[in-house]
Amino acid sequence: MSLKPLIEKSKILVCVGSGGVGKTTTAASLGLAGARAGRRTLVLTIDPAKRLANALGLATLGHDVQAVPADKVSLGGAPVAGTLDAMMLDQKRAFDEIVTRYAKDPESQKRIMSNRIYQQISSTLAGSHEYAAMAKLYEIAGEGKYDLIILDTPPTANALDFLDAPERLTAAIDSSAIQWFTKPYMAAGRFSLKAVGMGAAFVLKRLARFVGSAFLEDMARFFVEFNSILGGFRDRAREVFELLRGADVAFVLVSSADPMSVDEAIYFYDRLIASKMPLGAFVVNRVHTSNRSTIDRETLIAKLTARPELRGYSPDDITQVASDFDRTHKEFQELAETDARQVTRLGERSGQKALIVQVPFFDEDIYDVSGLSQMVKYLAG
Ligand SMILES: Nc1ncnc2c1ncn2[C@@H]1O[C@H](COP(=O)(O)OP(=O)(O)O)[C@@H](O)[C@H]1O
Ligand SMILES: [Mg+2]
Repeated sequence: MSLKPLIEKSKILVCVGSGGVGKTTTAASLGLAGARAGRRTLVLTIDPAKRLANALGLATLGHDVQAVPADKVSLGGAPVAGTLDAMMLDQKRAFDEIVTRYAKDPESQKRIMSNRIYQQISSTLAGSHEYAAMAKLYEIAGEGKYDLIILDTPPTANALDFLDAPERLTAAIDSSAIQWFTKPYMAAGRFSLKAVGMGAAFVLKRLARFVGSAFLEDMARFFVEFNSILGGFRDRAREVFELLRGADVAFVLVSSADPMSVDEAIYFYDRLIASKMPLGAFVVNRVHTSNRSTIDRETLIAKLTARPELRGYSPDDITQVASDFDRTHKEFQELAETDARQVTRLGERSGQKALIVQVPFFDEDIYDVSGLSQMVKYLAG
């Protein structure tokens, strides 16, 4: 069982999982597999490791689609029917695009973008990165230029942040604290404490002493201005949710075999089911595999004695090497068994209904197309 059917049929694959588990690598590998399956494929990636970015032609940070050269995609083999494009999301630019789209006029757009608070918020507000990623996905999916789009997701501490992003972002901007705060601005047309009650005026005055009233005014002005495009943000969030519920969308839940990572995958799985989002498969990455030989001790010692690099070692030394060798093997065996138990747990917990694909822990990091090809073997093999 592999992800092959998903790679051949889906329109959108969304890779999610906690930070560091291998989402970006999985997304890039799925992209490669898509192109090799004859599809016009785009990988929308977030934070590729530098060497991988270079390998995909994404050396310069940017928001532009780059074609991965055909000879790279095919790795010098027979030409590939599909194509692979890659794009690294520039969160700030993605956010700006949303503002441009929803601002009521060019003046308002300019005012928002030049606002200091906006410049801060568009890159640091909780959920804004995830929101920008989903908005970009929506836009590209609408253009119809690709058969398959693979979305890598931001390195959030909790995989759930991704699904919650639009809601949290609009809630943050919409909160009563902010409404309370923008009132003095709304009422007077400029920042004035006349319009607020005594208590609020007192607090705002104290605040202004610390941060300066120009800052407060910037802040209030931003929220008033931004309020007018908030509806647009909400609409877009709703549209994205609908898009993600589509029949040709699948989530790929990436985890390691670490118990906490598996817990998180299970948690996310439950969440997907509850929100009626389509699970494609679990990918358990960096699984320890054991190749423990069944070789007995005498044979091992005989083999070691015969090795040219161990010539000149005393029988005691050789016995020592054999013991070390044995112990290392045992440790690997234990790691492999621990990982296997986690994979079993994942299967049981998800009612054996979901496909689980395992990718082994490779000796080296994956940083180029040939490394990705290794992974493709396991994902789509
Ligand atoms: N199966 C694997 N074996 C060995 N190294 C891996 C494997 N999968 C990923 N890596 C490496 O782990 C690191 C983190 O992977 P990455 O895809 O960037 O994680 P994430 O996007 O989830 O934060 C990268 O250096 C990558 O090359
Ligand atoms: Mg990543």
